[in-house]
Amino acid sequence: MLSKEVTPSRIVKYLDQYVIGQDEAKKILAVAVYSHYRKIATVRDKGVIAKSNVLLIGNSGTGKTLLCETLSGMLGVPFVTGNATSLAQTQYVNEEIEAILLRLIDKAGGDVAKAQLGIIFIDEIDKLKASKTEARVTSGESVQHALLKIMEGAPVKLKGDIFLDTTNILFICGGAFVGLENIMSKTHGYGFIATSDSDDQNILDRLNKRVKPTDLFEFGLIPEFTGRLPVVASFQNLSKEMLVRIMSVPKNSIYQQYTEIFRAEGVELSIGQRVFEQIAEIAIEYKTGARSLRGIFEELMTPILYVVPDNRDIFKVEVRTLFEEPLYSRKPPATT
Ligand SMILES: Nc1ncnc2c1ncn2[C@@H]1O[C@H](COP(=O)(O)OP(=O)(O)OP(=O)(O)O)[C@@H](O)[C@H]1O
Ligand SMILES: [Mg+2]
Repeated sequence: MLSKEVTPSRIVKYLDQYVIGQDEAKKILAVAVYSHYRKIATVRDKGVIAKSNVLLIGNSGTGKTLLCETLSGMLGVPFVTGNATSLAQTQYVNEEIEAILLRLIDKAGGDVAKAQLGIIFIDEIDKLKASKTEARVTSGESVQHALLKIMEGAPVKLKGDIFLDTTNILFICGGAFVGLENIMSKTHGYGFIATSDSDDQNILDRLNKRVKPTDLFEFGLIPEFTGRLPVVASFQNLSKEMLVRIMSVPKNSIYQQYTEIFRAEGVELSIGQRVFEQIAEIAIEYKTGARSLRGIFEELMTPILYVVPDNRDIFKVEVRTLFEEPLYSRKPPATT
């Protein structure tokens, strides 16, 4: 069970070390996880709890998978990730789902009771949309039905006569839901009501931004499925400033990684603010969120890493802009 010290604000603080922005999604997720375990603790023995599984929606590369993986690193509960795309590509959906549950038991060190209080993150859930045109091995819709069974909390019989009760397992689903915005802009009509009261406007804005079950239904998730994902957290598109911070601020940011590599060679690496901005600008054009940052950054580093190891006299490398040659500072040759 979740330890007493884990509160929503502590969860968010931990996530902040690795995930830039997405404050609202962090809060929603933190509270959902916290209240899930509090509910189990208080309603124990009194019957079934109303589970609040979470759906994370946001464009590609905005941090959905990162957020969940980071979360899994801090909670002291078994946590596994499954991928809906692979579920849609196999003939053996039930076996694949069983495999996810078995991995959860594994994560719980073989303790079934502990696994029954775990978290399952299913990524790329939008790939299960019902499709009338595409031929697939398994239809997304039938995978949704298969997942429903474990989300509902039926006891599942696994290999080796293990029974796993999924009632108290929390499900987090994530997906980019490309095209959902168009659906929302069609169906969310309140936006045109004029009001002078800014509070009212705020409420309207929030309603307009809120993803409704009917939107998800129109997208291609069956109603029973969306019905089991009552908590929805939307991810923001990353701004240039956020992209710049992603490269340099988090504990394991790409800049810090390279700084370490160079330091190990006895070389100081200095990258100007403008470089980060230029990389962010290119990444925005690529429209893959933060995903392309690493590639662009590594491309910048390649010629430098090619030169530095052979030149022991270099002690500092400075990059001022993407399109200028890096400046190499060298120790003066030893005179005898
Ligand atoms: N908010 C963020 N803070 C820090 N790093 C981020 C953030 N968003 C994305 N990244 C970086 O971009 C990479 C891709 O992000 P992630 O895998 O979380 O995207 P996603 O939202 O799951 O996208 P997709 O819908 O394509 O699966 C991460 O590994 C991370 O390095
Ligand atoms: Mg992802």
